[in-house]
Amino acid sequence: MRSAALALSLLTACGAQGGDDPWAPFSPTLQDRVIGLVRQDAPPADPTNAYAERPDAAALGQFLYFDPRLSAGYLRADAQAKDVSCATCHAGDLGLADGLALAVGQAEVTRNAPTVLNTAFNRWFFWDGRADSHWSQALGPLENPLEHGVSREEVVAFVRDDAELAAAYTSVFGQSPAAEPDPDRVFVNVGKSIAAYERLLVTGDAPLDTFARAMAAGDTEAMSAALSPEAREGLALFVGEARCHLCHAGPNLTDLEFHNVGLSVEDDGLKDRRDGLAVVLSDPFNGAGAYSDDPAFGARKLANLKVFETDDPDGEHLDGQFKTPNLRAVSLTAPYMHDGRFETLAEVLEHYNELPPQSLDGHREETLLPLNLSAAELAALEAFLAEGLAAELPAVRLLTAPDEPTL
Ligand code: HEC
Ligand code: HEC
Repeated sequence: MRSAALALSLLTACGAQGGDDPWAPFSPTLQDRVIGLVRQDAPPADPTNAYAERPDAAALGQFLYFDPRLSAGYLRADAQAKDVSCATCHAGDLGLADGLALAVGQAEVTRNAPTVLNTAFNRWFFWDGRADSHWSQALGPLENPLEHGVSREEVVAFVRDDAELAAAYTSVFGQSPAAEPDPDRVFVNVGKSIAAYERLLVTGDAPLDTFARAMAAGDTEAMSAALSPEAREGLALFVGEARCHLCHAGPNLTDLEFHNVGLSVEDDGLKDRRDGLAVVLSDPFNGAGAYSDDPAFGARKLANLKVFETDDPDGEHLDGQFKTPNLRAVSLTAPYMHDGRFETLAEVLEHYNELPPQSLDGHREETLLPLNLSAAELAALEAFLAEGLAAELPAVRLLTAPDEPTL
């Protein structure tokens, strides 16, 4: 009895020593990488949307986001058509996603619905980056026959003919939708108001932020309190041996760019980065176009892409590339990847650990090598993703349908 107790106390002492020194897994280089992950308070400005910071535009946008009438189910005399709103696939109680592998609107879509949380930090939108702003992104699902399934003419007529919406629109945009000579302008303004709302859907602190700030301040006690020993070990792997930080870097754990992570995508005619690039450059609603509130800003952003194109006129190296997802609050938004192929974070990690020999579509990044991590190391990485990135969510009033389109 006594020796068992002694053994136990020795064990705890050793465990405590290894587990309780939160600095142990972090070399100075890894410390710098961890501190670089601290979240930013506010998303970057979007000068292409003059209404982006307007609370009245956000109130209208939030109403439209949750309004199932903006869909074929309501606007078309078709018994088969369904009522769909943005919240059908980006729901307030499902991490602003839908919990499905492939999203379902009027019918099943060919892509996994990513979260809308923190998308105001994006540079490009959609898995293939085919939109360059929040507002132009929002126009896509409305006209997609598999999603809302309506036309822009139907959207514009609905906003114009609904007294409550027309009044809210007029007070935000200074002109009644009926008096607007260009109907596309009304359609775009629907997108700009939804974008103003989406800018508010940012997460607050995650344990990672508390930990990283404590590390920057040299506060050992606060570091220990912020993350469990297992999650700390996972974080050290994330920015170290597992090389996740090569793509999942910075305050949103994404480089905001596109990569081929060797998912063995058959060339199924679906859009990847090569298609997305062509679409965004020719989109009449891109940031350089007539509907942008700062075309010079939008043109500068797109110009970088053109340089990229000249290097590789056919864009072959873009095959099989998709956008690096933001990982904040990632445990809320299973299944994972552009096609929702992995049901759990453990399956995602299994993929990075083993990596199939070569992807069928395009070439996997050469920086990606099988990790050959042990089961305990994989569990530590998973603990970091689930525990360390469990971020504070936006206020409930932002995650539910409002009663009115006005403040
Ligand atoms: C039927 C389901 C469905 C509906 C309805 C829907 N979405 Fe999505 N959303 C998706 C899918 C799937 C994607 C990814 C598509 C792709 O990349 O090709 C996506 C992508 C996005 C993105 C890009 C996220 C990123 O990180 O690039 C945003 C933002 C978004 N949707 C907002 C909206 C808004 C706003 C609405 C309403 C106007 C809406 N969605 C309606 C399924 C849906
Ligand atoms: C070469 C760049 C790169 C590296 C390195 C990388 N990732 Fe990714 N990650 C991506 C891209 C790109 C995607 C989306 C791929 C797709 O859907 O086709 C992704 C997807 C994910 C997802 C799914 C998120 C979601 O919302 O669907 C998780 C989780 C993830 N990565 C974690 C990690 C971890 C953990 C590591 C280190 C073991 C890692 N990644 C290494 C680029 C990378």
